[in-house]
Amino acid sequence: MSLTPSAATVVAHYSRGDLLDRLADALRDDGVDPARPTLEQLAPYDQFHGRGAEATDEAAALMPVRPGDRLLDVGSGIGGPARWFARRFGCHVTGVDLTPEFCTVASDLARRTGMASSVEFEVGDALALPFGDAAFDGAYSMNVSMNIADKAALYRELRRVLKPGGWLLLSEVARGDGPEPDYPMPWAATAATSFLATAQQTRDGLIAAGFEGVRLESTRAQALAFAARSREAVARGEKPPHRAVMLIHSDLAVSAMRNSARALGEGRIDPIEVLARKAPS
Ligand SMILES: C[S@@+](CC[C@H](N)C(=O)[O-])C[C@H]1O[C@@H](n2cnc3c(N)ncnc32)[C@H](O)[C@@H]1O
Repeated sequence: MSLTPSAATVVAHYSRGDLLDRLADALRDDGVDPARPTLEQLAPYDQFHGRGAEATDEAAALMPVRPGDRLLDVGSGIGGPARWFARRFGCHVTGVDLTPEFCTVASDLARRTGMASSVEFEVGDALALPFGDAAFDGAYSMNVSMNIADKAALYRELRRVLKPGGWLLLSEVARGDGPEPDYPMPWAATAATSFLATAQQTRDGLIAAGFEGVRLESTRAQALAFAARSREAVARGEKPPHRAVMLIHSDLAVSAMRNSARALGEGRIDPIEVLARKAPS
């Protein structure tokens, strides 16, 4: 796949080439056998979005999944959400991600967790999804659109691959009030690959792209509470509950997490959860 300069910068931000080894080390340090981790043991590392598995569970509660549905995960990372939903709903999840190393790790973890028949991962761009029209009953994307400038093209592609009436769930970081956040942030080393839309722009963009019934909520209060609980855990000498940023961005992680916490506290970023349906054409 040939990448635009911006997409290549996104991939370079997420990939160093030794993630599986670093994940194995982190699991061993937790007292976990890296060859046979459970989804719960992986969750601090493979749920690579704000609030980790807590946010994944909340998203699951919103998803109108029916038995036998096929779901699409856009920007699937190392596959934590896909495995979580596939197990919870007993359905099949296809993940697509721009970062080849993440797809390799995601597939490897699917084998190690015995889930290779219910999840699959492939390299691809959310702006040119490698799937036919109306291929999925539902689609979701967690903490991905912040890397994508052309939101209209993203929403068009998401709509294209959904069946009539199919649902879309987005869990994203929206632009809040005041100045841009300081960088690095967990999704971008600089502002050059960070494209935050406001909650209102997200709602308007989805409707313009042909979605209806858009339900959008800020999860800022939950994010602030999670951050407070994490600080308390660290103060007690425990590991923080969410360690994905540390694992993936060892060098940038401390400043990215500090900037993210400050931007959240100051309201410059606004985590949002969105559910919408594909409107008839
Ligand atoms: C913060 S991670 C979230 C991963 C996963 N959704 C999760 O919650 O665990 C953002 C992911 O978006 C992917 N990504 C960014 N731009 C993309 C694009 N245009 N197409 C597909 N994936 C993209 C990155 O490679 C990265 O895996």
